[in-house]
Amino acid sequence: MIVLGIESSCDDTAVGIYDSERGILSNVVSSQVDLHKEWGGVYPELAAREHTKNITAVLDLALKEAGLRLKDIDVVSSTVAPGLIVSLVIGSSAAKTISLSLKKPFIPVHHIEAHIYANFIYKEESYPFIALVVSGGHTELYLVEGFGNYRLLGKTLDDAVGEAYDKVARILNLGFPGGPVIDKISKKGQKTLHLPKPLSRKKEEHRFNFSFSGLKTAVLREVKNSKVCQIEDIACSFQETAVDILVEKTVDAVKEFNVKDVVVAGGVSANSRLRERLMEESKVHGFNVDFPPLSLCTDNGAMVAFAGYKRALKRPEGYPLTVETKARLPLEKFESFINSF
Ligand code: KG4
Ligand code: ZN
Repeated sequence: MIVLGIESSCDDTAVGIYDSERGILSNVVSSQVDLHKEWGGVYPELAAREHTKNITAVLDLALKEAGLRLKDIDVVSSTVAPGLIVSLVIGSSAAKTISLSLKKPFIPVHHIEAHIYANFIYKEESYPFIALVVSGGHTELYLVEGFGNYRLLGKTLDDAVGEAYDKVARILNLGFPGGPVIDKISKKGQKTLHLPKPLSRKKEEHRFNFSFSGLKTAVLREVKNSKVCQIEDIACSFQETAVDILVEKTVDAVKEFNVKDVVVAGGVSANSRLRERLMEESKVHGFNVDFPPLSLCTDNGAMVAFAGYKRALKRPEGYPLTVETKARLPLEKFESFINSF
């Protein structure tokens, strides 16, 4: 089965092609990062305009790299939720148009499901597992008991961890996106600051919830008050604290639900320190931890094509083209949402 995947939920225009026999055939991402830099974050209207400009060129390139023609595609999938609504509409309208003209099934994909299953493009999954989802818009812990079977354990009550990285980078004048640069310069710094870890030792209702807004504000306070701190030390102190919070809650979830596997998903799964710390903890506590290959951590079309493939196995006839795009839609409600059309 050859599946086309279109991803346009935020600022990347991406098209990937997955073949169930040969794996990923192409994965083209057109990044808008330079355009959004001057805003210090993603500017929704600009993102939508760029998707419109780029989508056909990205699609052409993905087909060319895969050595395919449009008529060779068996299934067409796109991210329909969650994300910037106009951006989602552009990618999904393209996918629906292709599906209609080729008379091939349309498969709607949830962005977070695609991030999680990017771990399994080249590796068989085994259930149950804990998924730590860490991106620019999400910080969540799920207990996953099957494809489409997600139990939300906890989520951020304010900023996502990637958003905190981006905001701290802005405070430190490091540009956008903040994650990769903070990751890089932290290696040259020391953890010199004692920063707060909100909700870290909480039990019961907030046990698996996160909060990163106070951590970002604490960094801002330190930067304003201190004239002697090295930027590398501030970055390192922030990163160590953020990673500590993520690792502590993940290990707690592993113990609570007695699972043997953890997968990490989303843009922040590229973080070198998070990888290192979770690997260490996995040895201490006896679980396996998986991260997607670096090229599949941030937004891309191949992960959408693969999630589309997994869903097409469950429903080969596809879904009606009337399935809507949604700016907000919790992963655990996705299955019932798309089945309601
Ligand atoms: O998944 P993604 O590409 O887009 C969303 O769905 O949000 O994630 C983007 C986020 C950004 O906040 C970016 O700063 C962060 O992932 N990121 C990183 C790293 N690479 C990307 N954060 C920490 N360390 C990294 N190496
Ligand atoms: Zn993402």
